[in-house]
Amino acid sequence: MTDRKLIDAAAAAMENSYSPYSGFKVGAAIECVDGTVFSGCNIEISNFNATLCAEASAIAAAVTNGKREFKRIAIISEGASYCFPCGTCRQRLSEFSPGMEVLCARADGRYESYRLNVLLPKAFGLEQM
Ligand code: THU
Repeated sequence: MTDRKLIDAAAAAMENSYSPYSGFKVGAAIECVDGTVFSGCNIEISNFNATLCAEASAIAAAVTNGKREFKRIAIISEGASYCFPCGTCRQRLSEFSPGMEVLCARADGRYESYRLNVLLPKAFGLEQM
C-alpha cells in the first residue's frame, strides 16, 4: 500500500472522531506486515482520562483481529501541524513493533516519516524485565 492510501485510510477514520470536548479530530491507520489495514479515531469521554487516542483505537482493532506485527501507522489530524503520536501511544506501538514506520500527516495531507525507535529511543520493553 502506498503512503498516500494509508494516510487516506487514516483521514477516513478521522471523520468518525468523537471529540466534543477538544474539537480536535484525529485518525490513524495501521498497516500490518501481512498487508491488512486497521483504522481508528479518537474517542473522548467526559471524565477525560478515559479518552482513547486514534492510535490506541487502531491498535485495539488490529490486535482484536489477531494482528500483532505492524509495518506502518499513519496519523492525521485537522491541524496545520504534523500529528505526532503522544508518548503513551509511542509506548503502545512499541509493545508490538518497535521498528515500525510512523507517518505523521497534517490537514493538507503533507507528512513526515519516522522510525518509531527514533521517536521513542531507549524504549522500555520486555527485555528490561
Ligand atoms: N489525540 C490522539 O488521538 N492521538 C495523539 O497521539 C494525541 C492526542 C487526541 C486525544 C484527544 O481526543 C485529542 O487528541 C486532544 O488531545
